[in-house]
Amino acid sequence: MIIGAGYVGLTTGLALAYVGHKVDVIEKNKEKLNKLKSKTSPIYEKGVQELIELVKDNINFWEKPDEVIKEAEIVIIAVGTPPKKNGEADLSYLEDAIRDILKKINLEKDYTLAIKSTVPIGTNNKIDNIIKEFYREKGIESKIHLASNPEFLREGMALYDTLYPDRIVIGSLSAKAISDLQELYKPILQQTFTPPSFINKPNAFNLPHLIITDPTSSEMIKYAANAFLALKISFINEIAGLCEKVGANIKDVARGIGTDKRIGISFLNAGIGWGGSCFPKDTLALLEFAKEIGYNMPIVSAAREVNQRARKAVIDKLKTYYGDLREKTIAVLGLAFKPGTDDVRESPALDIIKILLNEGAKVKACDPVALQNAKKAIGINEKINFFTNPYEAVEGVDAAIFATEWPEWANLDFVKLASKMRTRLFIDGRNFYEPEEVKKAGFTYMGVGR
Ligand code: UDX
Ligand code: UDX
Repeated sequence: MIIGAGYVGLTTGLALAYVGHKVDVIEKNKEKLNKLKSKTSPIYEKGVQELIELVKDNINFWEKPDEVIKEAEIVIIAVGTPPKKNGEADLSYLEDAIRDILKKINLEKDYTLAIKSTVPIGTNNKIDNIIKEFYREKGIESKIHLASNPEFLREGMALYDTLYPDRIVIGSLSAKAISDLQELYKPILQQTFTPPSFINKPNAFNLPHLIITDPTSSEMIKYAANAFLALKISFINEIAGLCEKVGANIKDVARGIGTDKRIGISFLNAGIGWGGSCFPKDTLALLEFAKEIGYNMPIVSAAREVNQRARKAVIDKLKTYYGDLREKTIAVLGLAFKPGTDDVRESPALDIIKILLNEGAKVKACDPVALQNAKKAIGINEKINFFTNPYEAVEGVDAAIFATEWPEWANLDFVKLASKMRTRLFIDGRNFYEPEEVKKAGFTYMGVGR
């Protein structure tokens, strides 16, 4: 049984159903639930719709755990843990989920309970105490075997990362929980399933590592992994800024350092910085947690600072060109925090739009799939119009900022774009295009660090 059909819970549930398990997914949100029940994906995520139809006999969706908890053997919690105003992770959904389970649990039966949601370090131990206390009050020994089981999936690649992970981490002090989860993930650990035709297995794929540790180390692995990836991107963005000052090319620099195996080439794409539901939230939560226990983390802190600077750098570029942005109309191409998803949480594009509006500019915002979420996040503002077609979005604008590297925009017709814009200024916030090709269409091209 899985609680929470978000990006994490739903893709995990579908992948487990695909490899042969019987899965029940609990989702409180009625709108999402109804979609799932009618076999429609509530999220935009590669392969999810196909898999919902393909595994329909192995997966069921419910509003409450009541009807299925008694039969469940393994319960995975994947509810959201969004940041509170002070940056701490909000654990209320997690606490609700645990309360809901305990209310209906079969007290005679053993359960393995895996926490997949990203939770502050030490949370698994706290939950363990709550559960033990619950059983103690009833005069019996706890039959819930707790484990931390973090996820490492990227949105847009969520099913791929779930079926072909680098590692599976299980943090538990219970031998039963460890063996249950090992058994659950066995088809993935040993890659014994036939890959779905629409989520191909990578060519040179090594079997995933299985990392078994204590719950606190497992929680730490999740935060440390996200913090490291975030600071890797911030590092390359910091170097990109320096490249601009001295006329070096960040793409070559990234290749020059990334081909060193100790560094690695991935996550060295300079741009307008990282967004999404994980890096911003997890780095902030890590800092808050460290502060609480009186520990300073200057590297993580600096990574966040550089990330904000990366957004502002785009505006600075516009200002060096225009001086003042009042009454200028700017197209922002791409609103999702990365391609392949309709998620706009902490999207750099939305931060850039906010700054543009504050500076008195008008905005034409464009995205092939994330418009609905973007409109919800931005709210009503007469200074912003929304488009799905980039050629319509750039009509009469004074500059275009390219913010999300959607593959469907890889072959934009720059001559056509140029013909529609008032001023041919193109700021490539993802270093996605060949500068020469853009310039050929008459544009002034500004990338990041080149
Ligand atoms: C996940 C993890 O859970 C989070 O801790 C991690 O850091 C990021 O990835 P995600 O799947 O992206 O979160 O979250 P979200 O899309 O918000 O999904 C959570 C789902 O759980 C929602 O559909 C929500 O309606 C549901 N939910 C929440 C429940 O079903 N029950 C609850 O009690 C609370
Ligand atoms: C991330 C982690 O990769 C995943 O392991 C974790 O479990 C959840 O958080 P996600 O947020 O879905 O996944 O996307 P990711 O592909 O990591 O990208 C995050 C942000 O970094 C995006 O805004 C992306 O545009 C940006 N990014 C990524 C860069 O700016 N440069 C890069 O080289 C890579």
